[in-house]
Amino acid sequence: MEKRQTLPTVMSANDELVLQLALYLEHLELSLYSGGYENFTDAQYTAEGFPSGFRDNVGVIAQHEQTHSDTITAILTAAGKSPVPTCSYKFPYNDPTSFVDLANMITSVGIGAYLGGATLLMDNPDLLTAASSILTVEARHDSYLRAGVKGSPFPNAFDTSLTAVFAYNLAQMFIVSCPQNLPLTVLPTLTLTSPAPSPNLTPVAAGTPLQFTYDPSKFFVSVDASTPLYIAFINQQANITYTQVTSCGTNCAQIPVPEGKAGAAFAVLTTFNSAAALNETALTNFGALTAPAEVILS
Ligand SMILES: *[C@@H]1O[C@H](CO)[C@@H](O)[C@H](O)[C@H]1NC(C)=O
Ligand SMILES: *[C@@H]1O[C@H](CO)[C@@H](O)[C@H](O)[C@H]1NC(C)=O
Ligand SMILES: *[C@@H]1O[C@H](CO)[C@@H](O)[C@H](O)[C@H]1NC(C)=O
Repeated sequence: MEKRQTLPTVMSANDELVLQLALYLEHLELSLYSGGYENFTDAQYTAEGFPSGFRDNVGVIAQHEQTHSDTITAILTAAGKSPVPTCSYKFPYNDPTSFVDLANMITSVGIGAYLGGATLLMDNPDLLTAASSILTVEARHDSYLRAGVKGSPFPNAFDTSLTAVFAYNLAQMFIVSCPQNLPLTVLPTLTLTSPAPSPNLTPVAAGTPLQFTYDPSKFFVSVDASTPLYIAFINQQANITYTQVTSCGTNCAQIPVPEGKAGAAFAVLTTFNSAAALNETALTNFGALTAPAEVILS
């Protein structure tokens, strides 16, 4: 960034929100990748089948996240905004493979957030270019991680974009505490309980049952017990499928994996079905009963 053009000094509210969310996620990724580098040795990585040099590259990814954080901080500061501070985090991994699988999930959220933010940055081409140049590098990181666990480096022709609220909600499970939150709604949780994620990204076939739990007492609107519930399944650009859930027990919703889905997908509980054809923005603003649950299909 040092050699770039002068930083913009004026920024719209949308631009600021996109950048604050990007910084929030970059801080989280920096902590994640620093841990994956510091907590494991080269020998631990190679013992699990990672190629030689993998740990060093995790270190390079951590450096990129530091540079991204510094750059976004500089842009916000130059425009007179206060950059969101770093939080404290918890990451559920205990070996190199579970670290890399988690990093794939989190990086898919970052990619989705940058993609979803692009529309909001269209009023500011310099910012859009800066954010896009981070996005493409995040996608390279993710392909490398995927190949490291012997999964497909690029499971889809299109990546999946996320609204700011959905990306923010997906980050919450890794947050212990934050000195400052972003002005984005935190929705009730939807938890994927089955199947357990495959460590090497073995594809989950269409039709495979997915089970989720939720707590209806936390919904922001009251939903009559007889109202049918749906899972909105967000995967690849602008494509949401709505599937009516069947019960798998108290507060447990089941659907089969819809046809034609791959890579990282995001499931949201809703009372809306395909007849309403809500796009992701409308789903976020009024359709979602819960936050998204991330489902890695391949
Ligand atoms: C990994 O290292 C970080 C420090 O970089 C530490 O805070 C974290 O608890 C460690 N996590 C695990 C799973 O060992
Ligand atoms: C959306 O995905 C379904 C498969 O789940 C596919 O049949 C359909 O063509 C896709 N639509 C678009 C617009 O990509
Ligand atoms: C989403 O749908 C709403 C109507 O519900 C529409 O106003 C908006 O332009 C749509 N957004 C996109 C990105 O298509």
